[in-house]
Amino acid sequence: MDFAQHVKSSVDIVRVVGEYVRLKRVGNSSAYVGLCPFHTEKTPSFRVHGDHQFYKCFGCGEGGDVFKFVMRMEGLSFPEALRRLAEQHGIPLPKRSEYADEETKLRSAVYRMHEIAADLFQRNLASPAGAEARAYLERRGVGEDLAREFGLGYAERGGQSLVRALEREGLPRDALAQSGLLLERQDGSGWYDRFRHRLMFPIHSESGKVIGFGGRTLAAGDEPKYLNSPKTAIYEKSQVLFNLHRAKEAVRKQGRAVLVEGYMDVLGVWAAGVREVVASCGTALTAAQIQALKRHAGRIVVNFDPDTAGADAAERSIQLLLEEGMDTRLVELDADLDPDEYCRQRGAEAYRKRLEGARDYFLWLCDRARARFDVRTPEGTAQAFQFLLPAIQRVPDEIKRAAIAAEVASYLGVTPGLVLENFRRAAARRGAALRPVEETPHFTERHLLPLLIRDAEARRQLAPALAGLPSLRRFASWPVFEQILALAEADAAFDYGALRARLKESDQTRLDRLILAEEAEVSLEQAWECVRALERRERESEVAELKQRIREAAAGGRLEEAMELTHQLGRLQSR
Ligand code: UTP
Ligand code: MN
Repeated sequence: MDFAQHVKSSVDIVRVVGEYVRLKRVGNSSAYVGLCPFHTEKTPSFRVHGDHQFYKCFGCGEGGDVFKFVMRMEGLSFPEALRRLAEQHGIPLPKRSEYADEETKLRSAVYRMHEIAADLFQRNLASPAGAEARAYLERRGVGEDLAREFGLGYAERGGQSLVRALEREGLPRDALAQSGLLLERQDGSGWYDRFRHRLMFPIHSESGKVIGFGGRTLAAGDEPKYLNSPKTAIYEKSQVLFNLHRAKEAVRKQGRAVLVEGYMDVLGVWAAGVREVVASCGTALTAAQIQALKRHAGRIVVNFDPDTAGADAAERSIQLLLEEGMDTRLVELDADLDPDEYCRQRGAEAYRKRLEGARDYFLWLCDRARARFDVRTPEGTAQAFQFLLPAIQRVPDEIKRAAIAAEVASYLGVTPGLVLENFRRAAARRGAALRPVEETPHFTERHLLPLLIRDAEARRQLAPALAGLPSLRRFASWPVFEQILALAEADAAFDYGALRARLKESDQTRLDRLILAEEAEVSLEQAWECVRALERRERESEVAELKQRIREAAAGGRLEEAMELTHQLGRLQSR
């Protein structure tokens, strides 16, 4: 068995996927269902199969084995996914780095550089050079424990300490250039540190590796206030949420995420005991970030800064959250406090109360409309209507949309009919675009196929009987039966992968679909009944066909033929 096979057989895809997606078991089968992490959906069409160790989404078509899942989820190459899974499951890696291609080597060097940097920054913070940064943290109410928990650090003024640390490691030049941590001197004489005299916030991937930094200035007037890592082989800010790796467990447990704007807000809210808190890293919220949250919870409380920029960002985020079908609430804190300040000034308890009392996003939007337009005039009403309409139309749930429509109508003082009419039109457009067409598989396909694949004894017993059933060929999944029978007849080694490999792509999909749809396993006995029923049905249709031919022969005066067919019919019926 090669190393990849060894890893694959030692990990359970259900547990690996379960780290990212809330999965629910389907009946008493080995299939699990959840919301697809690769596309936006409200009803789960993503399935994972425990026995056959694969996943498949019937919405977007994405599917594969545990390696493919980790590759897609974490944006890794095959060797990286292999290594990651092996490490996570305590499987020793083979000595030779035979799984490393160029891209992988670069990325693992950049990961390593981030480890070194995070470590160095942390040590700096504790050193004499870090005095100013420590004093700043103290002023902001960030204690030593909290700083350590978040791996905060300090990047020195000189701009040489990280360069030296990295050069000592003998890392490839290529990696130095592409790490995002260093800058090259104009005259080409060497490198210097990108982050200088800044308080450093490490940014982690969902699995907890340091992939970038946000560096806050310590000198007044030093621009920008936060200097962030650029896009690198391991970091893309639009894909990452600050603190998600720490927060995700609490997000699941609480069934909600709290979204704030800044790194400092995350620290403050976290310290107040609200652990389900994340922030985007200096960008507007993106669909990818929402997807990442949605894998853990369907509810989100947005708590942005009370300033205009914060409110505008909240408004944009809400539109996107609605599109992604998130249950969205909004907290506004009084006295113009941001979450961090609020927690420190009013205390953890008060903040948590505000979260519990978070209002539906919609009332907040209404207030925005009220502030912006004069709804006492017809023009103002029309404008407010135009302002609110897109947000409401984005609500995927029809019932919720209707309820909101009624609210808007009363708020704007227009007839509900007008509002509803607008929604109906939008809903019709939405429905037409979404509804997939699906064929329903026959009982035989749904139950017999999974059994045949699962159970060697069932294959041995049933295969000969099935081979004698021409009607099997009429099923859409006949090519799958055909290959199962061929493998059984050849007494060949049988597993899901081997079977799949013999099928063309559309049949592979059909097979995955059938396997994943199995809700209750049938017994061999039930399978026999099913086969007998097929045999009976086949005989009945043969009988019907013979009778028809006899009638035709008789009507055409071909009596000899009619006699012969009648004999056949007698033999068939006595069988
Ligand atoms: P804030 O200015 O609200 O930062 O920006 P903050 O986290 O509350 O920091 P303090 O309280 O002033 O120390 C919110 C977020 O926007 C991003 C950062 O992610 C920051 O946490 N940002 C802000 C940048 O990326 N660059 C900037 O220059 C400013
Ligand atoms: Mn702040």
